[in-house]
Amino acid sequence: MADAQGNKKAKDYRIETPAPAGGFFVKGACNGDWGLKNRLAKIFRPDTGNTVMLAFDHGYIMGPTSGLERLDIAIPKLNPYVDVLMGTRGAIRSSVDPAASKPVCLRATHDESILKEDMALGSGRGLDIEEIIRLNAQMFAVQTFVGSGGERDSLEALCRAVDDGCRYGIPVLAVVAVGKQMQRTTEFFLLATRLLAEHGAHAIKTYYCEGFEKVAAACPVPLIVAGGKKLPEEDALGMVYRAIQSGARGVDMGRNIFQSSSPEAMCRAIRKIVHEGSTDKEAYGVFREESKSAG
Ligand code: 5RP
Repeated sequence: MADAQGNKKAKDYRIETPAPAGGFFVKGACNGDWGLKNRLAKIFRPDTGNTVMLAFDHGYIMGPTSGLERLDIAIPKLNPYVDVLMGTRGAIRSSVDPAASKPVCLRATHDESILKEDMALGSGRGLDIEEIIRLNAQMFAVQTFVGSGGERDSLEALCRAVDDGCRYGIPVLAVVAVGKQMQRTTEFFLLATRLLAEHGAHAIKTYYCEGFEKVAAACPVPLIVAGGKKLPEEDALGMVYRAIQSGARGVDMGRNIFQSSSPEAMCRAIRKIVHEGSTDKEAYGVFREESKSAG
């Protein structure tokens, strides 16, 4: 194993040089099997290469959350405006119409609840591969805890998930968790995202940070940016814009959509940035117009 000390600092990220597509539009997937690529093409829109995912997996650690008190009401309303639904098997089975649903990214790990002091202690593989196939997931998500007590177990869970995913052609989304004590620095996200990609993840959900263009350049698979705590709509759209400009291939957002004063308008505004190249200012204009007509 390489020494941790005495290394030269990485700096040559060649941000202006795109990674070669190698015949398939999703970064890092050109050597995958047909089924894996077909599923990735349902997660990332082939015409833009990007995705708008709706995250509504909060209940599995938080219980009822503002905006998600009733999954059966909140999710069908937003389904038409997003590309992918990210949820737990309980939420998908109970509250999403299989005939109308968008592709599903299934949360496949279990974690500790918000009652626990330090939620960054670990995560276990919750669902087996048969269950993931049964639910026709187009991708499945594994929570990871780089730099915390749960690191070893979550990386083991990621490795087994990638083994299963590769066996059946189902891509794995590794989710970077940020514990209470962990810093949201460029260095941390450079380390975490690259490490998860090298463990075999096909895409990575991470947070936006300063220097994100370096994080995106150094990661050989697509980055999807998490929403995080509810921000004013204008600020959330600013974050989405900066993330896409810096190389993110989409967003996986929850609270900034379903806790918005107009969740549908927020989805439309996000789509403008992610799929249509709009600026955050233009998208905020769309949000205001759409929320007036919705209200
Ligand atoms: C945390 C998660 C979530 O459970 C969820 O998807 C968060 O969504 P948001 O922060 O946008 O409300 O993935 O790692």
